[in-house]
Amino acid sequence: MQHALQAVTERHALAFKLMFTRTPNRSYIVNNVDILGCRMMKCIEVEQTTRRQPGPPMTLSSRTGREKPSPKAPYIVGLGGTVRSGSTTDNALRLALKMATAAGAVTVQISGQDLNLPMYASEGLERTQAASRLVDELRKADGIIICSPSYPGSVSGYVTTALDYVEDLRGDVAPYFDGRAVGCIAVAGGWPGAMSTLDTLRSIAHALRGWPTPLGVPIVADKGMFDSSGTCLMPKVHEQIDIMARQVVAFASFRAASAAASA
Ligand SMILES: Cc1cc2nc3c(=O)[nH]c(=O)nc-3n(C[C@H](O)[C@H](O)[C@H](O)COP(=O)(O)O)c2cc1C
Repeated sequence: MQHALQAVTERHALAFKLMFTRTPNRSYIVNNVDILGCRMMKCIEVEQTTRRQPGPPMTLSSRTGREKPSPKAPYIVGLGGTVRSGSTTDNALRLALKMATAAGAVTVQISGQDLNLPMYASEGLERTQAASRLVDELRKADGIIICSPSYPGSVSGYVTTALDYVEDLRGDVAPYFDGRAVGCIAVAGGWPGAMSTLDTLRSIAHALRGWPTPLGVPIVADKGMFDSSGTCLMPKVHEQIDIMARQVVAFASFRAASAAASA
């Protein structure tokens, strides 16, 4: 089972890499397939007759001597948490972003009062400053990490309302969460709530055309899980958040590189 999951992760990463890698005179047809319940892609390489578009300055790879685009750090937006001070959900999100930063990303966290937004109104165009900032940050994002408490048995009102505002990205070239990796963390008092909330978060990511990472993280909150400095004292939770954060950064890197190449 572990090997099968590893294979799924590797194929998922490969599919993403192929999707966002520009190879001269080649492109990839990408089809959705379902493997072990994960949405996967089958990539078929095809010859392309069009010439490559001009890209950003190229650097020479020291290993191969071939041209490669200058790397751009992926931009990851973390949203979620609760307004409770010392919140497990906040700590989990902060840790995920810390790990994403360590993996090479530039990150921003939107949580606490920044998520205290008015209910989304699809017709009105007026937006509060906090709502405009949220939409602007998500527009810039190469990857997203969402961390929600389980209220009752599902995504909290704050997080759901924030996700409603993604509707403001509907007219973008990359609408909603299109092409973006989405890491999901659900924090609950018990496993049923953690799992149902995680499932809902992953379904929302799909509905918004995002790419839930192979690993989502369900957490059963425990008073001793994080110390006052935000260090996670439970190795298994620490490890799962780390794996998920690195998956988000890996996928987001392809998107960031692709955007840099076509700028
Ligand atoms: C309004 C409310 C509803 C909740 N419903 C559930 C639930 O249905 N299932 C569950 O496991 N935990 C439930 N919890 C517990 C929270 O999910 C848990 O305490 C939270 O994720 C951790 O909170 P913190 O981030 O503020 O530390 C609920 C908590 C509140 C305040």
